[in-house]
Amino acid sequence: MGQESFISQELSPLSEGVQCTHVAPGVVELTGVDLSFLSKNPILFSRQLLPQAFQVEGNSIKTFAAGIVAGLIERLPKEPDPWHLYIFEPATADSGEDYSRARLIQQETVSLLKQKRRSLLKSLTDQPSDRAVLVQVLLADRNTVFMSVTRAGTRRSLQSLCTPRLGGYIDIPDDKRPPSRAFKKLEEALTIFGLNVKKGDTCVDLGACPGGWTHVMVERGAHVTAIDRSPLDDRLMRHKNVSFVKGDAFTWVPGKPVTWLICDVITTPDRTLKILDTWLSKRYCSLFCVTVKFKGTPDFQSLAAIRALLTERTTWFDGKQLAHNKNELTVVGKV
Ligand SMILES: C[S@@+](CC[C@H](N)C(=O)[O-])C[C@H]1O[C@@H](n2cnc3c(N)ncnc32)[C@H](O)[C@@H]1O
Repeated sequence: MGQESFISQELSPLSEGVQCTHVAPGVVELTGVDLSFLSKNPILFSRQLLPQAFQVEGNSIKTFAAGIVAGLIERLPKEPDPWHLYIFEPATADSGEDYSRARLIQQETVSLLKQKRRSLLKSLTDQPSDRAVLVQVLLADRNTVFMSVTRAGTRRSLQSLCTPRLGGYIDIPDDKRPPSRAFKKLEEALTIFGLNVKKGDTCVDLGACPGGWTHVMVERGAHVTAIDRSPLDDRLMRHKNVSFVKGDAFTWVPGKPVTWLICDVITTPDRTLKILDTWLSKRYCSLFCVTVKFKGTPDFQSLAAIRALLTERTTWFDGKQLAHNKNELTVVGKV
């Protein structure tokens, strides 16, 4: 919320035809780009996409529910694959909260479906599975409601742009063991980008202190070399799978390639770009998860250079401003 213009600044250098219209707080309508473009060009400042969204006419809970039911009858086959319904407000993307108006419209929609097309209720699922059709209804403001029906294959091709989560939000529960709350950013990244850390993976954590990210990796069985100017939390310093190296994150490189580079150094995007350039062009890692931090407004020039580097040097990449990122983005990829 409050960053709607960033999407336009991010996308305009990538596509001449793209148009971004700010339709409500936290909501941007995109025209002039298709889904295949978006599947190759993640929108870093978007929390959740409603592909091929259309507007639902109405002015009350009952009339919006009627519009949603009409949309379902029109767009879902009579006996569809499992489908999942999310009704949410823009603020849900930041907090995960579901609001009472959304709940009321959801209840009304289900009770109307019972009357009008009971057969559809048989395949309505509580938990969005990987093969479920995702029906998203966004209550953009009191009078503006958008709806989108996305098949599982399309949703997966859009990667983290269209997550199977309410408003794209993932709650990461508090945990007293990691020495910093930064652990939530890495937990969220691993979940939302579908990254799997395997037992025995090797990992370098640049700018690791006090050790929230290192904690996440060793908990999953990785062996971590942690680089920082200051030591980590005592428990991690004693951990059998953590080697601490007092060193400079900008110049330190491993003796042999590792599975993971993770990096959360506080620096400018152009310096993060240099770290990524070295690690990716020399193939020092197979997978990476790196934060790109901004002072004030984002540095779109460096961001475009990072995107170009990832396009050239990875077999797959994705990125996003996660719910647990503040003035920063997280980029991930496979070399
Ligand atoms: C945001 S903190 C990292 C938090 C960490 N990811 C965690 O989960 O606890 C950034 C870290 O980068 C380290 N740092 C900054 N510049 C550095 C440099 N040139 N070399 C090594 N570490 C550096 C700082 O000492 C700081 O500990």
